[in-house]
Amino acid sequence: MTRGSVLVVDDEAKIRQALTKALRDEGHEAVACGDAAEALQLLGQRPFDLVVIDNLMPGRSGIDMIREIVATTPAGERPQIVMMTAYATIDSAIEAMKLGALDYLQKPFEIDEFLVVAARAIEHGRLRTHHAYLITERDERFDHYGIVGRSRAIEEVVRRARMVAQSRSTVLITGETGTGKELVARAIHDWSAQREQPLVRVNCAALPESLIESELFGHVRGAFTGAVGNKKGRFALADGGTIFLDEIGAVSPAVQPKLLRVLQEREFEPLGSERTIQVDVRVIAATNRDLRQLVAEGRFQEDLYYRLNVIPIVMPPLRERREDIPMLVEHFIRRHARRAGRQLDGIEPEAMTLLTEAPWPGNVRELENTIERAVVLASGPVIRVADITLVSAASPGPQPLPSLNLKQNLDWVERETVRRALDAALGVKKDAAELMGISQRAMSYYLAKHRLLDDPERP
Ligand SMILES: Nc1ncnc2c1ncn2[C@@H]1O[C@H](COP(=O)(O)OP(=O)(O)OP(=O)(O)O)[C@@H](O)[C@H]1O
Ligand SMILES: [Mg+2]
Repeated sequence: MTRGSVLVVDDEAKIRQALTKALRDEGHEAVACGDAAEALQLLGQRPFDLVVIDNLMPGRSGIDMIREIVATTPAGERPQIVMMTAYATIDSAIEAMKLGALDYLQKPFEIDEFLVVAARAIEHGRLRTHHAYLITERDERFDHYGIVGRSRAIEEVVRRARMVAQSRSTVLITGETGTGKELVARAIHDWSAQREQPLVRVNCAALPESLIESELFGHVRGAFTGAVGNKKGRFALADGGTIFLDEIGAVSPAVQPKLLRVLQEREFEPLGSERTIQVDVRVIAATNRDLRQLVAEGRFQEDLYYRLNVIPIVMPPLRERREDIPMLVEHFIRRHARRAGRQLDGIEPEAMTLLTEAPWPGNVRELENTIERAVVLASGPVIRVADITLVSAASPGPQPLPSLNLKQNLDWVERETVRRALDAALGVKKDAAELMGISQRAMSYYLAKHRLLDDPERP
């Protein structure tokens, strides 16, 4: 483990003591102080690998302090920053990450969690100074094998996935499209004792009804027209490992009883065969449909639903865990910059704001596609608002709102309207104002309000 020097800033002596003691026990060097002024003074005197800042302190807040650190130290010499915040002030955590903090800890937290976050931040700083863009692989390991995010909801998903990985229980992963269901299914297999055994995926929606049975259970020669040889089914192929039944909601009523039998007895007969085959497989199923609804409509067998829903894992939509967006954005920029062979320094704050506020009906997949496009299209070393196209926002049909907060939604609509009018007017403010049916004065106001004025020279 990488050890480093840590500055703990918190006005509560008890917390200072607990954190510095834990850090020292792990072999780190720890210094603590009780307010922002003293902290800034210490930072001016000597380098630290990491500063852990409490947001709520008398005098200057943690956010102000982060702003000051970022403003006064060049990026290369800056310590990593982690902010501690109470649940009620999660907005300030997002703000802190936008300003440049690497991570945040939600109070109350466990000391172990703190140590993991601290070690990760120190490691991150080291790697960043040594070779900025070669760190992806390691980073992915720190981020739960590719599951990026530190929101409560994602932490809960990861915790469940890790726990269930220790068992052979059936898992049902539900959630909207693009929320990471397959990613989690693969993680469960990789964390299980059967990780060296096969993981076999079946996309139940992609297989025509006539084929799904023989795909799942196999067939013997002559079982049906065209069955020229024996074929092993996917359940047999997955023996000893995991079968991932993706889009389980699409399985036809004819096949459902057979699936139920495998789940109950772990046995089946290949098509056209009398011989019963026994398998030892873990089943992970996923769907973006509401299975309970399908049960109510008589399209999904109730017994099968209960057999599948032993350990449910619900993937939260991205719009309900926006605090994960900055981290996902950084992650995807690194991934796609590397793939495209581009050197990118990051993303401007306005562009990050735009991404943090978008509705993301296609969830993480849509965010990733958006970043991939921006990485390829960016004209400079930094991704800017102009490099970002939100495809879903332009597509027809009702769009999910960013939230249920009226002001937030109105702000978002306002901003999107201005942005798209500017796009349509090829950046000419006067024309955009006309499209929007507002005066040029009002236009200037909206541009400034939403910080869309990236080019003051624009006509
Ligand atoms: N938390 C996450 N961290 C990093 N990448 C993620 C995360 N969640 C999703 N992704 C990425 O987003 C993409 C979509 O994820 P995935 O295919 O697992 O979604 P899904 O829920 O199975 O979607 P669908 O219902 O459309 O099949 C993948 O490239 C995946 O790697
Ligand atoms: Mg999927």
